Amino acid sequence: MVFHSAGLIFLLLPFGLGSSFSERSHTSCDTSTLNTTSGVYYAKENQTIFQIADAVERGACDIARYNRMADAIFPLTTNEEILIPPQVCKPDNSTCLIVAKPNATYADCVVGGPHTYTTLAGDTMAYIALKLNLTVDALLSTAWVPNMGSSTDPVETGQSIKLPQCSPSQCTVRPGEFIYGTYKDLAVKLGTTPGQLMAFNPTYNHTVAPQGEGPVLSMVSDCVLLSNNISVIS
Ligand SMILES: *[C@@H]1O[C@H](CO)[C@@H](O)[C@H](O)[C@H]1NC(C)=O
Ligand SMILES: *[C@@H]1O[C@H](CO)[C@@H](O)[C@H](O)[C@H]1NC(C)=O
Ligand SMILES: *[C@@H]1O[C@H](CO)[C@@H](O)[C@H](O)[C@H]1NC(C)=O
Ligand SMILES: *[C@@H]1O[C@H](CO)[C@@H](O)[C@H](O)[C@H]1NC(C)=O
Ligand SMILES: *[C@@H]1O[C@H](CO)[C@@H](O)[C@H](O)[C@H]1NC(C)=O
Ligand SMILES: *[C@@H]1O[C@H](CO)[C@@H](O)[C@H](O)[C@H]1NC(C)=O
Ligand SMILES: *[C@@H]1O[C@H](CO)[C@@H](O)[C@H](O)[C@H]1NC(C)=O
Repeated sequence: MVFHSAGLIFLLLPFGLGSSFSERSHTSCDTSTLNTTSGVYYAKENQTIFQIADAVERGACDIARYNRMADAIFPLTTNEEILIPPQVCKPDNSTCLIVAKPNATYADCVVGGPHTYTTLAGDTMAYIALKLNLTVDALLSTAWVPNMGSSTDPVETGQSIKLPQCSPSQCTVRPGEFIYGTYKDLAVKLGTTPGQLMAFNPTYNHTVAPQGEGPVLSMVSDCVLLSNNISVIS
């Protein structure tokens, strides 16, 4: 049943249904065997978040979200401090990863900006395009970096590249605290893309701020086309 009341939507579950859910999760996981202590880990040389996840028996995405990582695959520096979350019943190693969905369609231009993106460690042109919801061809029509090979080759970091813009279009940008999750989660919540969040916050990678707090970032949201007649500009 769905009720609309003063603009709020309530979803009522019958009692039987609610209790059968909790019984199922109770029997599938003995919570007394979980390590509910949070901790701190210092990344070893070249260690990835996935290797750390193995070492501490946590889900890689649970760690990424606990550290409010822009992107779980962003390389860590040696001795970088990583917060370790309590163990959970279902460790999540995958839902934070930015991957191409089957049959997804991509755009020819970025809705609402910005005009440039600064390349990050681990980037390829194909990955930058995916993060911005662009086709690779659309990105390559405006972007260029020195020694550019194929779209799946690593690109030099710290390079400012031009992005194809949808004109006219706009986003709202305002400061906001980044409390939990990765940019992929944030992008869904804000109606933007992980690449746009990266472009507006080029130096942020993760935080060891206490849970419930976080850095103030440029939150880019509500990106929309402003016409049916869109042209691509750079
Ligand atoms: C529980 O996890 C914390 C954080 O990773 C770790 O420091 C601690 O050693 C673990 N405890 C046990 C009993 O494994
Ligand atoms: C880390 O990676 C660098 C560059 O690939 C390599 O030279 C170095 O030997 C690696 N170190 C370890 C401990 O694997
Ligand atoms: C996630 O990774 C952890 C640590 O490597 C592993 O123990 C667990 O089985 C993995 N879970 C899934 C669902 O792949
Ligand atoms: C993707 O497209 C192919 C071919 O059009 C189709 O057979 C397939 O079911 C689609 N997959 C999904 C997940 O929609
Ligand atoms: C990506 O672009 C396609 C094509 O314009 C659009 O249909 C889709 O909604 C966009 N997805 C996101 C997450 O912006
Ligand atoms: C991530 O940011 C921290 C703090 O700004 C910095 O010390 C660290 O070197 C950065 N990591 C990478 C890989 O850029
Ligand atoms: C669409 O916009 C372009 C450039 O702004 C303009 O030249 C063209 O006449 C417009 N087309 C229509 C159908 O309005």
